[in-house]
Amino acid sequence: MIVDGVLILDFGSQYTQLIARRIREQHVFCEIQPQTYSLAEIQEAKPRAIVMSGGPASVFAEGAPTIDPGILDLGVPVLGICYGMQLISHLLGGRVQRADEREYGPARLEVLKPEGLLHGFEVGTHVDVWMSHGDRVETLPPGFETIARTPNSPFAAVANLERNIFGVQFHPEVAHTPRGVEMLRAFLFEVAGCKPDWTPGSFIEQTVDAIRRQVGNRAAVCGLSGGVDSSVAAMLVSKAIGDRLTCIFVDNGLLRKHEAQSVVHTFRDHFGLKLIHVDAADEFLDALHGVTDPEEKRKIVGRVFIDVFQREAEKLDDVGYLVQGTLYPDVIESLSFKGPSAVIKSHHNVGGLPETLHLELVEPLRLLFKDEVREVGEAMGMPHDVLWRHPFPGPGLAVRCPGAVEREKLDILREAEAIFDEELRAADLYDKIWQAFCVILPVRTVGVMGDERTYDYVIAIRAVDSRDGMTADWSRIPHEVLARVSTRIINEVRGCNRVCYDISSKPPSTIEWE
Ligand code: XMP
Repeated sequence: MIVDGVLILDFGSQYTQLIARRIREQHVFCEIQPQTYSLAEIQEAKPRAIVMSGGPASVFAEGAPTIDPGILDLGVPVLGICYGMQLISHLLGGRVQRADEREYGPARLEVLKPEGLLHGFEVGTHVDVWMSHGDRVETLPPGFETIARTPNSPFAAVANLERNIFGVQFHPEVAHTPRGVEMLRAFLFEVAGCKPDWTPGSFIEQTVDAIRRQVGNRAAVCGLSGGVDSSVAAMLVSKAIGDRLTCIFVDNGLLRKHEAQSVVHTFRDHFGLKLIHVDAADEFLDALHGVTDPEEKRKIVGRVFIDVFQREAEKLDDVGYLVQGTLYPDVIESLSFKGPSAVIKSHHNVGGLPETLHLELVEPLRLLFKDEVREVGEAMGMPHDVLWRHPFPGPGLAVRCPGAVEREKLDILREAEAIFDEELRAADLYDKIWQAFCVILPVRTVGVMGDERTYDYVIAIRAVDSRDGMTADWSRIPHEVLARVSTRIINEVRGCNRVCYDISSKPPSTIEWE
């Protein structure tokens, strides 16, 4: 699939996905493959350029990741970053020196020869770069020259201009290298002759064709949750096969206020998708009755979802395919040679469906990062609200209701959350915050309303800033906004008389409370 795009060989750097995103931002397609991707596979994939990522290993370590040196003879331009550069030097006859200590942090790069990667820079210019490496190159391989240096790294950027092979000791992909994007652009467009044709429009066209070829005359089913991924996936498949796609929307009784109506309105009424709305609230709430353990709740919601979905899907004729909104980071994770990280909470993605249904998967988003999914959605005319809504967990309000899940508490939670949402939008904060929601605590406290004593629930409000949900800091919402949210929740929502603001960051807390 890479043909004419860029191949990124991954040596385990924490920045590999960032390299991919920086390249995609230039509208050039790229794919990440583990460093074990073979010479033959590369010849077949026909990339226009290869980027070798950084990585934690030392080229001297036993079993250090390496490549077939034939890859460097293909005539395809190569950029080695950090470990990638050391490996190139090592394989082509340079000398790499084991470092006594890592060089880490900012450095000033002086441009010596503005060619290739540094095309467009001026000789003598100093630019800020971010270093993070252990070993370093001591002697260049034959045919290589230095094109930039830093006080500590005489070979900070090197090139074999005849063979179009480049190496940098620093990280052009990180924000701390502000002109790194210009270097990547020079490599992509000046050196490799890539074309900026990776656009939402071309993606939609190619993907719709691919779905048509895959599904043929058969039918497909999709679990539509109303979240960004399943919605964009459903829209793409519907564009390809029309009403041979049936979407099943399971209302589990754990959704936010007006959410079910809004999903039905947007996708059935506005976009004309064939949508089955299953009201399964009783089934979910009965199964959750009296259950207080967070993991148990997650498992119950997952299990009942599969039961309900399967029951509905079996009513459909000739369904051969299941649409899933798998994204590229999940695909990379499954390809990577590192093991999966420890499970803190089960069921971040609804699992189990494919095995129990015996359907072939259609995963139209498997090459996309989240921001690209939104761009594709925008290009298909999907509403801003659907594409930019805050993440919402699969187990829904069940995990925002510590202790037993009860209808009364869910009603309070829904009302409180609607007010919080409304006030954040009014203060123009909604789009700046990664995620905001309420939690209803399983305790009652004393209050006074008018002359009456009250004994009601406590609502905790939570808002976090984050880039990817992996780490998060609590949002510094202005006190006036917090005051309005609190006053409105206490005055307007019956059953709660106290509001607290959660000021914990992740780690060590998590975003959701359960
Ligand atoms: P935590 O609570 O682990 O959450 O810090 C990180 C992000 O993941 C969301 N989340 C889920 N998303 N199914 C999902 O699709 C789930 O079971 C689930 N649990 C948590 C959470 O809302 C946050 O954005």
